[in-house]
Amino acid sequence: MDLNRRPDNMERITTPELAQAFIDEQIAALKAQIGDQKVLLALSGGVDSSVVAALLIRAVGKQLTCVHVNHGLLRKGEPEQVIRVFRDEMDANLIYIDATDRFLDKLAGVSDPETKRKIIGSEFIDVFAEEARKLDDTRFLAQGTIWPDILESEGGIKAHHNAGGLPDDLKFELVEPVKILFKDEVRMVGKTLGLPDNMVFRQPFPGPGLGVRCVGAITRDRLNALRESDAILREEFDNAGLAGKVWQYFTIVPDFRTVGVKDGKRVDEWPAVIRAVNTRDAMTATVEELPWDLMKKITARITAEVPGINRVLVDITPKPTGTIEWE
Ligand code: XMP
Repeated sequence: MDLNRRPDNMERITTPELAQAFIDEQIAALKAQIGDQKVLLALSGGVDSSVVAALLIRAVGKQLTCVHVNHGLLRKGEPEQVIRVFRDEMDANLIYIDATDRFLDKLAGVSDPETKRKIIGSEFIDVFAEEARKLDDTRFLAQGTIWPDILESEGGIKAHHNAGGLPDDLKFELVEPVKILFKDEVRMVGKTLGLPDNMVFRQPFPGPGLGVRCVGAITRDRLNALRESDAILREEFDNAGLAGKVWQYFTIVPDFRTVGVKDGKRVDEWPAVIRAVNTRDAMTATVEELPWDLMKKITARITAEVPGINRVLVDITPKPTGTIEWE
């Protein structure tokens, strides 16, 4: 079958058996395409690139090099999980680059949201290209392109976000093993490949990461408050059984302080804002009605455990008028 286009009559991959058939077929196709050549993959830890990595590890093992760039704007525990799953458990060739200082230095003092996004995007390409140049006998570049990406770029809705971006001196042939799959199918394939549930069923997370939730000019202390408050929120959603039910949930830490009191002393600290939304396509969104007890618990934990936060607020704005992210 033509593995470049999704056949009109292709059965939706909804069972482990169908996923296994797809995996077997793709592994054979990857072996045939790649032969004894080398492949490079930017591994973010998101579901698409993680599934591509797991397929390639099965197909070509150490001929694959994964590069995980930590831009300093990942959620708590994410880089550690990528290293644990891919380097320790799957024995992959993984290059881990902690580029936190590089990104945060470039972002220092930058408050305009679009400028922040551009800096993060172009710095990411620079870091990845530097690594790619060191691996000069690599012929293939793997990407986690999925079928909706192709439909949207063909329909002119948005530029295909994966293709291109690398400087002209870097030329690769593309390997895109999940490009005929819808997102739910990628998840089923990932689960069948044995990836952990919190990787396979991850909520969407924007490329610029926590950068768009640390509103305005990012500072390390406020970014830390954001990361820690977000981790508490995720943990409490998990405990409350909401993790698989609510589409996207996270905290935001805006760049202003208000007066509060901790241990009998005045503190001028930031608020953490809870955002929890449901949507089908992210074009519109409704707000999840959170149980009051849960909000009280989250508030108590964040204000007690996170340095720099003295209030917790809840964003109850649907989209429109509020976008899901604050920047
Ligand atoms: P908004 O804020 O536009 O977000 O309502 C809609 C959905 O898109 C996600 N988002 C992004 N995803 N790169 C991404 O891969 C980005 O730059 C980006 N910005 C927003 C957002 O998290 C939400 O799920």
